[in-house]
Amino acid sequence: MRALVTGGSSGVGLQIARRLAASGAEVVLPVRDRDRGAQAVDAIRAEAPAARLALCDLDLASLDSVRACTADLVAGGAPLDLVVLNAGVVLLGDPARHVTGDGFELHFQTNFLGHAALVLGLLPRLRDSAARVVVQSSLASAFFGVRWDDLQRERRYGALRAYGSSKTALGLFALELARREPLLSVHMCHPGVVPATRIAPDARRRVWPGVRDFAVRHLGNPPAAAALPALAAATADAAAPMFFTPSGPLQIAGRRARARRPFRRISDAEAGRRVWELAGQLTTRRRAQ
Ligand SMILES: NC(=O)c1ccc[n+]([C@@H]2O[C@H](COP(=O)([O-])OP(=O)(O)OC[C@H]3O[C@@H](n4cnc5c(N)ncnc54)[C@H](OP(=O)(O)O)[C@@H]3O)[C@@H](O)[C@H]2O)c1
Repeated sequence: MRALVTGGSSGVGLQIARRLAASGAEVVLPVRDRDRGAQAVDAIRAEAPAARLALCDLDLASLDSVRACTADLVAGGAPLDLVVLNAGVVLLGDPARHVTGDGFELHFQTNFLGHAALVLGLLPRLRDSAARVVVQSSLASAFFGVRWDDLQRERRYGALRAYGSSKTALGLFALELARREPLLSVHMCHPGVVPATRIAPDARRRVWPGVRDFAVRHLGNPPAAAALPALAAATADAAAPMFFTPSGPLQIAGRRARARRPFRRISDAEAGRRVWELAGQLTTRRRAQ
């Protein structure tokens, strides 16, 4: 099996990649920082010396970078059996609204649009191998919908709002992908709360180290456990979308469990259609410029 894991250079994605590689899969890690990618490869090989790993370049916050990545992967000719859309940013603790070189709010592009462009660019290859697509969501998606009148959060910005909305847009896209592409299987998951990753660096810096250490030791999921819902989604023996979460109270921590249904905000088929069309428009409009 050949798998691609975004955000495999750190945190939960590194654990997903580690487990897939240890089980014999060939794992491609698209990274925006080659040094961090090489450290991830070394860390995985330290445990599994025979692991089959490859790095390629991908900055989800740049549509040109996504296009170059998908073009290389398609031209390479090798099948892709599994794609895990795990990378993500959360700029908690940073009050500034950041805009990418393509002109999109940073959470919107990194978490949603970049991943949508990646899937759309790889679709012919994914169809060929009847691939599985696993989408990493977040509890924040349960609380924040897509603001159709303010997609880029220009009027009402807050990092958590922008993050939650971007994850909801990604979830809507994922379930619409499942509706439109019967050859693929699409499953979703979220890792709970995972304090021991590099997510939200500004918030992390502001927290007193003692509190941070307490959170890492006692709150939420360690990254290895947080990877289990994604691994369950990667191996689930089902064609219709399923949603895996941590098993504990409020889905914050624990191993993996199957939720009865995905978050309400991502289950709206009409919103899914709108998000799909939006992704197509925004990625092709920028290409034409
Ligand atoms: N930690 C939590 O409490 C939590 C809770 C709910 C959901 N999640 C979700 O779980 C996923 C993994 O998060 P994590 O906690 O493991 O965080 P992390 O340690 O910060 O890992 C995030 C990964 O995403 C990559 N990434 C960020 N921006 C990118 C870009 N523009 N292009 C390509 N890759 C990019 C990072 O690459 P670099 O190494 O280059 O930075 C890193 O590999 C995310 O989708 C996050 O939203 C996390």
